[in-house]
Amino acid sequence: MSEKRKLLITGAAGNIGSYYRAHLGDRYALRLADIVPIADPSGCETFVCDLSDPEAAQRICAGMDTVLHLAANPHTHAEFYKDLLDANFKAVYNIYRAAKDQGCRRVIFASSINAVGAYPRDRQIRPEDAPRPGNVYGASKAFGETLGSYFAFAEGLSVICIRIGAVGHLEHIKKRSPHYYRSIFVSYADLSRLFDRCIETPDIPFAIVHGLSNNRFQRMDLTATRQLLGYEPQDDAFSV
Ligand SMILES: NC(=O)c1ccc[n+]([C@@H]2O[C@H](COP(=O)([O-])OP(=O)(O)OC[C@H]3O[C@@H](n4cnc5c(N)ncnc54)[C@H](O)[C@@H]3O)[C@@H](O)[C@H]2O)c1
Repeated sequence: MSEKRKLLITGAAGNIGSYYRAHLGDRYALRLADIVPIADPSGCETFVCDLSDPEAAQRICAGMDTVLHLAANPHTHAEFYKDLLDANFKAVYNIYRAAKDQGCRRVIFASSINAVGAYPRDRQIRPEDAPRPGNVYGASKAFGETLGSYFAFAEGLSVICIRIGAVGHLEHIKKRSPHYYRSIFVSYADLSRLFDRCIETPDIPFAIVHGLSNNRFQRMDLTATRQLLGYEPQDDAFSV
């Protein structure tokens, strides 16, 4: 039997990390890391560490094939010094640096639609569009995309940045949910499908892809994401 792929998930105690871990079951050999303890690790190797510490990042990347970097402060109103500097800047650099130093194959970086949030709302965003953040949190995600590009093209690390939309459950969409929210919606199930493709698709030096569901109108264009990764989202926030 072939050996399981070794996947590190940072921010594994968080909302997306917890859902994705349940989705994966025992498909990969998982290592989970977070600054807070991870409830119910189910036999997975776990690390409680602050990724703004470069040595901690080196320790958790050692021996891993793929890194899914979810750890961050995810709040759009987050403040630079208090909330973002450690979690969304230092930790991002440390993870790319450690992944490269430790010989990991690929880093998948959880970027956000907030990296391009200041484009006019009547203009569909494409992956090749330059960042245009509408808040400092979005600027931290644009930093992660740019730094990923550096590590890919200058240091040879495979990097995929996902501009993730508003994550939720399709069942929680209400008749009164605003049109704009529906246009940026991505279900946990579709995002998990996209993570699967990002882990499994070979030969991608660098890519920025969009993480939305199959919404009838999409604030970010999914054409390139579908073509590059074979991503097939199932949910449509306008179907409710
Ligand atoms: N939830 C969304 O709608 C959404 C949308 C776009 C992008 N994202 C991005 O997806 C990722 C996961 O989001 P989430 O909703 O699960 O957020 P979350 O807050 O539930 O999870 C983030 C986890 O990161 C951990 N963390 C924070 N700082 C850390 C540090 N210094 N060292 C180690 N761990 C640290 C937290 O303890 C937390 O468990 C984040 O990068 C977020 O910016 C989320």
